[in-house]
Amino acid sequence: MAANETSVHTDIDTSSGMPLGIDFGGSGIKGAAVDLERGDFAGARVKIKTPKKSTPDAVADVVVQLIDRLMEKHPDATGPVGVTVPGIVQHGIVRSAANIDKSWIDVDADEIFTKASGRDVHVMNDADAAGLAEARYGAAREQKKGLAILTTLGTGIGSAFIHDGVLVPNSELGHLEIDGHVAEKRAASSVMEDEDLSWEEWAARLTVYYTRVERLFTPDLFVVGGGVSKDAAEFLHLIDIRTPIVAAQLQNRAGIIGAALVAQGLLGR
Ligand code: BGC
Repeated sequence: MAANETSVHTDIDTSSGMPLGIDFGGSGIKGAAVDLERGDFAGARVKIKTPKKSTPDAVADVVVQLIDRLMEKHPDATGPVGVTVPGIVQHGIVRSAANIDKSWIDVDADEIFTKASGRDVHVMNDADAAGLAEARYGAAREQKKGLAILTTLGTGIGSAFIHDGVLVPNSELGHLEIDGHVAEKRAASSVMEDEDLSWEEWAARLTVYYTRVERLFTPDLFVVGGGVSKDAAEFLHLIDIRTPIVAAQLQNRAGIIGAALVAQGLLGR
């Protein structure tokens, strides 16, 4: 950054080195060194296929490989490492495993990854990471006051509550029960594909879903993330609710960038 430019992110201290962000998803485990001043990757993203049986030890092996590959490109990325997991994470311990191997439940993932890699690793929920990144750098950055809810629509539905710019973790709104169904089993984007729904049919289900969330939490803004957010023009306008609803801006970079934020201890804007 030029000497005469002032950073808007005055709380960032990367004296221990640039952080790494790693996103553990169903098909791939992806990582990058993250430049927190710009809110973007510092270099190319590295991806390794998720092991077939994605147990904690198998994923820890991949995390170590990813860190090694990233360090070859960024020897200065000696800071903390953030890893997202698609489940509830309470103080580093995984508490649910809706779409991953059940052996994750009650595992101290912070400890396993830290031991395996010799780095300072912090694990968090995937949607929480994406929500934090959108709050600081993306679609929710102007929402300084009140409640922004980010939902990720993918294999499941993830959610992040950002209140007055600060993350309240593990909201798990994909598991709301609506009309006797777990919401993500009716309205995730994987369901649209599996049931071959049209955009209109899927949007009708999303209207039911967001209406319920709206009634329960009265948010000021919904941000819609996940891979399908790149097709926002196809379906967002069909969701009939009161609350403003916008597409995420960081798309598939949000999880990795948010992971680096959490690793760095930055849980708010
Ligand atoms: C999990 C959440 C996760 C979401 C998206 C849900 O099934 O319970 O923790 O954020 O999927 O991956």
